[in-house]
Amino acid sequence: MNGTGKTFYITTPIYYPSDKLHIGHSYCTVATDVMARYKRLQGFDVMFLTGTDEHGQKIELKAQDAGVTPKQYVDQVVAGIKDLWKLLNISNDRFIRTTDDYHEESVQKIFKALYDKGYIYKGSYKGKYCTPCESFWTESQLVDGKCPDCGREVIDAEEEAYFFKLSAFQDKLVKYYEEHPDFMEPQSRLNEMVNNFIKPGLEDLCVSRTSFTWGVPVTFDPKHVVYVWVDALSNYITALGYGNDKYHDFEKYWPADVHFVGKEIMRFHTIIWPAMLMALDLPLPKKVYGHGWLLLEGGKMSKSKGNVVDPVVLVQRYGVDAIRYFLLREFPFGSDGLFSNEALIARINADLANDLGNLVSRSVAMVKTFGFTLPTQRREVPEQDDELIQMVKGLQQRYEEQMERYAFQNALMEIFKVVSRTNKYIDETAPWTLAKNPEEHSRLATVLYNLLECVRVVGILLKPFMPSTAERIFEQIGASQELTTYESAGTWGLLPADVTVHKGEVLFPRIDLAKELAELEAAKASKEPKEPVKAEKKAAPQVEGVASMISIDEFAKVELRVAQVKACEHVKRAKKLLCLQLDDGTEAGRQVVSGIHPWYEPEDLVGKKVVVVANLNPAKLCGVESNGMILAADAGENDVKVLFVDESVPCGSKVR
Ligand code: MSP
Repeated sequence: MNGTGKTFYITTPIYYPSDKLHIGHSYCTVATDVMARYKRLQGFDVMFLTGTDEHGQKIELKAQDAGVTPKQYVDQVVAGIKDLWKLLNISNDRFIRTTDDYHEESVQKIFKALYDKGYIYKGSYKGKYCTPCESFWTESQLVDGKCPDCGREVIDAEEEAYFFKLSAFQDKLVKYYEEHPDFMEPQSRLNEMVNNFIKPGLEDLCVSRTSFTWGVPVTFDPKHVVYVWVDALSNYITALGYGNDKYHDFEKYWPADVHFVGKEIMRFHTIIWPAMLMALDLPLPKKVYGHGWLLLEGGKMSKSKGNVVDPVVLVQRYGVDAIRYFLLREFPFGSDGLFSNEALIARINADLANDLGNLVSRSVAMVKTFGFTLPTQRREVPEQDDELIQMVKGLQQRYEEQMERYAFQNALMEIFKVVSRTNKYIDETAPWTLAKNPEEHSRLATVLYNLLECVRVVGILLKPFMPSTAERIFEQIGASQELTTYESAGTWGLLPADVTVHKGEVLFPRIDLAKELAELEAAKASKEPKEPVKAEKKAAPQVEGVASMISIDEFAKVELRVAQVKACEHVKRAKKLLCLQLDDGTEAGRQVVSGIHPWYEPEDLVGKKVVVVANLNPAKLCGVESNGMILAADAGENDVKVLFVDESVPCGSKVR
């Protein structure tokens, strides 16, 4: 089984066939693609699986509305999903549809095997059902009587049904989590699963339905169809040939190295799926990574709210690599993040047009203009260049450390630190001045050579993120295939001295922010409903007195700044704490830990502007570093309100 050879099996969730997958859906697929490409670059035999989850009542109803059969409906929508993945340059090795015959056959065998082993039994189901999520809920799991996942109405459901003995796996799961502390990531998800689902007690799960027919029939009782999540989760093994003859690589790739999933479907992947596998005596996936959501200012993107961002439009306007880069650079993978057109354009301009684009075009242009043969004695390294060269030499290792943790944002930051340093090197060495003095021509050649080498290494490590940009870079600096392998990124000085550069098109043209935003807004305004007006905030109680007076000079010592919450997540083992990533107008931003979880969830904060005490000594709260604090008011007995700032105030503005 997987683990003996250099194989790597990675999956995305299989998507519901929706006619409009939005940028949030693309996020997970792009991240999976980056990981798959990275592992291939390292020489792994990779299996990257994605697909579509096509059964269930919701699809049956949609097809009815459209006046077509469910199969006709899904066929047409799935074609669109495949096109989107092509557009985003997704390199999946396999695409599974849950309506594929081989998959259905395997699901039937899995269901029967669980029944034969006594893990599935017949009973009667009474409870609540959320049709859009295809989820059964007990009364106690509902939030305000609604679906705890999507907040929509649930319906009463009662029918004869088969049940999976999930309760029998409670202790085994807890033991498994304890023995495999890396099974779930980020670690905060483990707390969520244990506290919200395991501790209250696992109940047996209803795994068949009789009220509709669009599903996989139970072989030994065909009026029942298999519950969509049992059907869907099985895809990760049926696509390798488990229970069918279509494929034959189950032994080779299973257990999966990692399932990438959105945080709301963690419980299916870390409770139900492992229990099913345990019942089948199969090994569990090595890791389930629950990434965060892309949010818009109005909350999570969803078609029903009408606030989705269309990836096709973005790719058409900015190019696929810019979108791939932005998605993984802007947000820490495990946390929620706020999507905005402004952030996207700012990121493209700053990182891709200015930093990377400029570096490549300046380097190539100078080699062309100054027309020098690059130095033949490449090995002698003037001290002045040493810092840059050492930084580039260590880049691959720093990058790898981050990639292995799925910290895509950090990996990209490491690359771009080198890009910035190299741009600075151009300014320091001023090749155009060296060019004027014939005695400096050998030095000039060395400088230009160093630039091309930096670009080469950067290009290699960018390959998984921006595959076509990397190729364009190699073409411009004249690097042949063997100098763009992963191994070659670890060695300095491989580019031959007589390399021929080619001036190509600008990699990323600068975007006029104001003009572009106006165009995007205009396009959006014509399509979308207005944002609902937010409820008025409760007025703060009267201030009765103050502790003691201070002078204006004393007050001036406190540096207060406006900052925007870019991402936010729970702090492990600390119920009250939230960890916020703030844009405080500085390049690096800052991380602040705040004890406001009793009153706020991450999604209440992401996108909001707050006031941060910027010159507070750093502190560690429950092991997490906090650089400052955000201001909040005691708004009544046991009530706290964060002080939000009008969104027009720029990040970094001083508050006084
Ligand atoms: N069909 C199930 C998965 C079954 S896996 C055996 C499903 N499908 S989905 O189409 O609703 O979602 C697919 C993935 O997209 C999920 O991981 C979900 O978290 C992700 N996203 C949907 N909206 C998202 C954002 N706004 N942001 C990030 N990811 C989000 O769930």
